[in-house]
Amino acid sequence: MSEGRITVPTLRARKRRNGDTPIVMVTAYDEPGARIVSDAGADIILVGDSVANAVLGYEDTLHVDIQVMAHHTAAVARAKPRCLILGDMPWMSYHLSPDDAVRNAATLIRAGAHAVKLEGGRARLPAIEAIIRAEIPVMGHLGLTPQSVLAMGGFRVQGKTADAAGALLDAAKALSAAGCFAFVIEGVPDVVGAAVTEAVDVPTIGIGAGAACDGQVLVFHDLLGLGKGTPPKFVRQYADVGRIATEAIAAFAEDVRSGTFPSDAESYHAPAGLGDALA
Ligand code: KIV
Repeated sequence: MSEGRITVPTLRARKRRNGDTPIVMVTAYDEPGARIVSDAGADIILVGDSVANAVLGYEDTLHVDIQVMAHHTAAVARAKPRCLILGDMPWMSYHLSPDDAVRNAATLIRAGAHAVKLEGGRARLPAIEAIIRAEIPVMGHLGLTPQSVLAMGGFRVQGKTADAAGALLDAAKALSAAGCFAFVIEGVPDVVGAAVTEAVDVPTIGIGAGAACDGQVLVFHDLLGLGKGTPPKFVRQYADVGRIATEAIAAFAEDVRSGTFPSDAESYHAPAGLGDALA
């Protein structure tokens, strides 16, 4: 482990109510993305299963398996970022048995992750406990869990009734008691994000869960304007990289078609005499 890297124990202790700085988490799926996120000073790179939508063109996250996640985790790890690398466990990699969950978590660790994240509440406790017993740190993920898209009937804000919010609070307490070092709370009303954050001693990292969480996460492509269609309400787009990239490639196309690329300075030159010999 390289000097100065962000670790699980330092993250586990970071609560805003203790005066700590909020945790910054951004997704990345490849080496250049990981370099950018690390150079920008984020704390955690999430190699999210959102690679399915953001990079691979699927409509949901159900189409990536552990091999795909390991492939992208390894690419991120090659950037040697200062951030903690968090490998996202894909659908069906922790649902069959605790043993299977441990094996799949180990696949992400061997690919370069320092911890894993998985979705769900009390039903996932056996898998979470088994992975933690194998010395692999686990981040939970509650609220709008995208791998439950079929069961939820779409990507819908969760925890909107007193019962549903109570169940979320109960799950959050159970996950932190089981040893999760943090969890993501996604797509819940801000008061629910605040109540969960207050109820647990480990940090919460919000996405569409209001301002009170102990950290925030966004998807790389949403943050940079590389996404398709209108981003969800909770996204703040900090740059229009998609437009800049399209304009740059259009300029290249124009230069090729007009014959101004490559220039003399962009061409290799032969030793004196070779041109004459080829004439
Ligand atoms: O895969 C992902 O990008 C995520 C975030 C939405 C937290 O799980």
